Amino acid sequence: MKVKKIAVLTSGGDAPGMNAAIRAVVRTAVGMKMKVYGVKRGYNGLVNDYKGDVSLMDLRSVSDIIHRGGTVLYTARCLEFKTDEGMQKAVATCKKYGIEGIVVIGGDGSYRGAMDLSKLGIPCIGIPGTIDNDIGCSEYTIGFDTAMNTAVEMVDKLRDTAQSHERCTIVEVMGRHAGHLALQVGLAVGATAMLIEEVPFNMSEVIETMKRSQSSDKKHFIIVVSEGVGRVAEIAAEIEAATGIESRYTVLGHVQRGGSPTLRDRLIASRMGYRAVQLLSQGLGNRVLAVKDDQIVDYDIFTALQMTKEFDTELYKIAAEISI
Ligand code: ADP
Ligand code: F6P
Repeated sequence: MKVKKIAVLTSGGDAPGMNAAIRAVVRTAVGMKMKVYGVKRGYNGLVNDYKGDVSLMDLRSVSDIIHRGGTVLYTARCLEFKTDEGMQKAVATCKKYGIEGIVVIGGDGSYRGAMDLSKLGIPCIGIPGTIDNDIGCSEYTIGFDTAMNTAVEMVDKLRDTAQSHERCTIVEVMGRHAGHLALQVGLAVGATAMLIEEVPFNMSEVIETMKRSQSSDKKHFIIVVSEGVGRVAEIAAEIEAATGIESRYTVLGHVQRGGSPTLRDRLIASRMGYRAVQLLSQGLGNRVLAVKDDQIVDYDIFTALQMTKEFDTELYKIAAEISI
């Protein structure tokens, strides 16, 4: 049976490149003569179906968004959707509009919702969108590259002032409980140390490294801290007390979630949006897309949720060796 109506939504934390994915979904669906609904505010739109929450999109509703950060469909974390009642309301909304499949752009929390909906007869395809790059099944998630580049740009600015004042700058980058962002940013900015949840560390070793570098005439320092480790104020105070180097800290925060997506994010988002609609058109659901060896692949959602991501200890080792 030919699939005639699908929907697309964004859920969880926004990520640059989500708009490019929405655009690809809409344009591919329209090209295949399907109707496509945009659902506002993640699963909230399906649960509540307030006026305008579920609306038809066309070729022109996704004009001028490929280069924009955020998500034109808005996003939310919807607790009600996790309840049986909320789920039933979402299914009823799908039935009301004749929605036969949904593309869900978000993180693994959103995949769980997509799996539940698929079980209830609404096939869903997940697209990985989060700046954290913390989805087990995929080597890459949309938004990661843009967030890394933003963080690098910000830390480079911090370096200028740290260098001028001969200070230590301690900077916290996002990633919830995943240190992938901190690791790659840390290496790219030439951080003296990276304090990351996945790698046990002790402050006395960090301080020893700094002292060794001081003795070879190093005057300013960058320490990258992942969000999961946090407590940057404490770390700055400890470093200052132990080394005598004036220290300042910065929490980069939500600036990392914004901005125009990089080429990489636009490309992956476009390829995934296209592929998601193709899968739905073949009557497939309960699957998520992922990057594996630079190719777009798809997995059953349950299988995908069991997969775990290795932390790149090799990269961490390289960074540690050359950050003297
Ligand atoms: P992310 O998708 O970025 O991991 P969340 O974990 O906040 O973000 O999940 C986004 C949304 O997905 C939640 O607000 C909720 O609506 C839905 N969701 C999360 N976990 C579940 C679950 N176990 N069952 C059903 N829906 C879920
Ligand atoms: O998952 C993306 C992310 O930006 C994490 O890095 C961070 O921990 C979290 O979302 C912040 O969420 P909120 O936007 O609700 O503050």
